[in-house]
Amino acid sequence: KLQAVLFDLDGVITDTAKYHFTAWKQMAGRIGIEIDSDFNESLKGIERMQSLERILIHGQQEQKYSQAEKEGLAQEKNDEYVSLLANLTPEDTYPGIKELLQELQEKKVAAVIASASKNAPLILEALQLNTYFHSIVDPSGVPGKPKPDIFLKGAEQAGAKPSFCIGIEDSQAGIEAIKTAGMYAVGIGDDRILKPSGADIVYPSTEELTLQRLLAAAHMI
Ligand code: BG6
Ligand code: MG
Repeated sequence: KLQAVLFDLDGVITDTAKYHFTAWKQMAGRIGIEIDSDFNESLKGIERMQSLERILIHGQQEQKYSQAEKEGLAQEKNDEYVSLLANLTPEDTYPGIKELLQELQEKKVAAVIASASKNAPLILEALQLNTYFHSIVDPSGVPGKPKPDIFLKGAEQAGAKPSFCIGIEDSQAGIEAIKTAGMYAVGIGDDRILKPSGADIVYPSTEELTLQRLLAAAHMI
């Protein structure tokens, strides 16, 4: 019954969520805005310019910059982020992910990347995981998470019906997006954070992700 598994990237496939946080913290710090890990939860899954808006509001600087200046700030963050990605190797893939992708490939279930990140192709290449994915959703011009569109587009690309899809996410916005898309939502992380957003099941780590477990949890055996 399972037709496709839609994977978020940052914080699900690899630990790039920490690099996003580091890069935002650095940029925000430079303009006098402090961000902590609690606030960072509200940035996870959120598209780049939207994240910047949230940071400026958080620091009560939402009126301070022109559009061009905001683009400069986002560029500054991305340059730092991309430089942190330079050391990424296949060993940085989270535990259990490659095995799950191999199982999906064997069972001919499509694996799709449903990430808000414009850096997704770069990261998948560094991890050497390209060949396991049916496709990557291009997030440009698509309403961002928590809207369901990125997940719906992923399902459509794979020719899958949302009710026969599983989405995997580490962010509150992403879990909400999966549920609104009408899919089974698997959270990776803290269930006290992800359950309230609507996660159907939460695993503390990707190590727990086996196809058999997912099928049983989602009643898709
Ligand atoms: C999401 C991350 O996957 O991608 C966010 O959780 C990030 O933190 C967003 O802002 C956009 O990423 P990028 O690489 O296009 O800036
Ligand atoms: Mg994520």
